[in-house]
Amino acid sequence: MTAATYKEATVSVTVRDIQAFRERGERFAMLTAYDALSAKLLDEAGIPLILVGDTLGAVMLGYDSTLPVTMDDMVHHTAAVRRGVTNALVIGDMPFMSYQASVEDGIRNAGRFLKEAGAHAVKLEGGGRVLELVGRLTDSGIPVMAHLGLTPQSINQLGGYKVQGRNDESAYRMLEDAKALEAAGAFALVLEAVPAELGKKITDSLHIPTIGIGAGPGTSGQVLVFHDFLGINQGKVAKFVKRYADLGDEIKAAAAAFAREVAEGTYPGPEHTYE
Ligand code: KIV
Repeated sequence: MTAATYKEATVSVTVRDIQAFRERGERFAMLTAYDALSAKLLDEAGIPLILVGDTLGAVMLGYDSTLPVTMDDMVHHTAAVRRGVTNALVIGDMPFMSYQASVEDGIRNAGRFLKEAGAHAVKLEGGGRVLELVGRLTDSGIPVMAHLGLTPQSINQLGGYKVQGRNDESAYRMLEDAKALEAAGAFALVLEAVPAELGKKITDSLHIPTIGIGAGPGTSGQVLVFHDFLGINQGKVAKFVKRYADLGDEIKAAAAAFAREVAEGTYPGPEHTYE
């Protein structure tokens, strides 16, 4: 390793830093990204965790669920994100059917994220059925972020995008799954669309950090989707989404201004023209 790469490696965020946030009680942010320049902006803003989510299917590829997203889609976009990032920990989201059929499939596909895309970790959805895989990946040196609550890859079984863990039995099952995922080696746990009380209870019962999206203020960190928090997604969004900008309106206004100036002949001006 050269001096330059050694320096780079030591300043990058690692899974140990994420655990240290948790131990110091420091809340932290994760955002999704799908391309190099967007990821570079988030990285330069100091976002420590960048998830290349399979929400890619909806926000980049125009599908109405995450189910059609392939490993090739994910590797392609994760590699782009990784090229834009210097410091953040980059996590590749394992798409539907890349780990459900067998543990071997899961190991091979998780390995692709690290070998072909340069990701630092992978994320996968589910509880009991992924425990063996989480253990095998962790043993193989692949850090795993787990994901419980509303798990969009199981949308057909869940019957819709609904809050999970509302009754005692499902809340208890989620808590037990969370503990089992931690014991299997997961370095963090995403909790999506669960009542705030359960989000806090699970967080307080674990040593690893939790990252909430619609899980209330009691989790260790929070995550939002790039196109949602910037207001680029102007469709109906979940209650937990806060829009921190209105880029959708700004993009439309900029496109309309460009079209108007082209029609008027005021663009390009002399400052944009080669003599
Ligand atoms: O795919 C994704 O973007 C996610 C986040 C919403 C956590 O799983």
